Amino acid sequence: MGKMRKMEKNATEQALSLVNDSVRKLKAYHLEPEEYAVKLNQNENPHDWPAEVKERAARFLVERPWNRYPNFVPDALKEKLARYAGVAPANVIVGNGSNEMLLVLLLSFAAKAKSAVICSPTFTVYKLLCDGMDTRTVNVSLDNNLQYDVNAIKKAVSDNPGSMLIICSPNNPVGNTLSEDDFKSILDIHTGVCILDQAYVEFGGFDGIKFLPDYPNLIIARTFSKAMAAAGLRLGYMIGAAEMIAEINKIKLPYNINFFTEYTASLILENTAIIKDTVSVIIDERDKLVNRLAALPFENVYPSEANFILVRTPQKQKLFDRLKKDGILIRDVSSYHLLENCLRISVGTKDENIKLCESLDNFFTQN
Ligand SMILES: Cc1ncc(COP(=O)(O)O)c(C=O)c1O
Repeated sequence: MGKMRKMEKNATEQALSLVNDSVRKLKAYHLEPEEYAVKLNQNENPHDWPAEVKERAARFLVERPWNRYPNFVPDALKEKLARYAGVAPANVIVGNGSNEMLLVLLLSFAAKAKSAVICSPTFTVYKLLCDGMDTRTVNVSLDNNLQYDVNAIKKAVSDNPGSMLIICSPNNPVGNTLSEDDFKSILDIHTGVCILDQAYVEFGGFDGIKFLPDYPNLIIARTFSKAMAAAGLRLGYMIGAAEMIAEINKIKLPYNINFFTEYTASLILENTAIIKDTVSVIIDERDKLVNRLAALPFENVYPSEANFILVRTPQKQKLFDRLKKDGILIRDVSSYHLLENCLRISVGTKDENIKLCESLDNFFTQN
């Protein structure tokens, strides 16, 4: 028995040696599956969809045959998305979350680009995908105020001609944005593809779409996981020059959107007034929350154009644990570059934000 297990172990080790080194070296992207009454750790929209809308989707789910593939091209959804974004359907490609879209972009561009310029700290999936695909990354640090260092980005793209530049604006996990003029000045000198991740664009910062007519090397990634309150549906989309989207489309897997997501995302786009309402509530709550947090003894409360707020305190672990005890889960981002002692708090519903502030008040009174 012992010998058998040893042989099995050797066989497993041999099999493991077949995995790409770039993948074996990765640290798995991981999130504890924890249940808390107040969930402020994933930058989701805290307002769920009204029951009437969900019931329409549920009826469709029951009536639609499950044994048949979804549409080969989700034309109706692409048309609605194009109208929502102010572009033509040929400028749009959809995927199973914007994470999948980022992977499709790497598949489309990485081998030729050879390197990717990424700012840091930013959304960790960019580096994870680049590392996993053996694409060299050139890291450009944010400045000490956690703002984009535009000159350093320009230097990095000039030093690495033809590289993929990945910019997140508003930037997760900080909430900073790039100004429209600075972005344009980078596009003016960048010779490679530029991926602009605008997962949080509905909450603030400039909208990159206006640059598309002049910069066909620009691709914008967006998602239904944040403002659209549909993280569970897994829908992301990209917008770019029609000719570029047609090329990227060749490497995207067929049928990557299931029929339920396709139908429900269309339904959401018929209800944009609801999205607008919840987004304006979140923005209002965010601005109030920033002021409330700034009145507490945090070392820093960073301004945010997104639906989350970054704070810094030497008591970060004690505070994180105390909030958990009070049923509130936030995100510890203290291991990120420049973010020692930092925590990221998603903006919740009005009630959730009141609970958060009560818990914070109690903590700082006692500590
Ligand atoms: C900047 C950024 N881009 C993309 C994503 C992933 O979005 P999706 O749920 O569409 O895969 C996230 C999620 O947190 C994000 O913060």
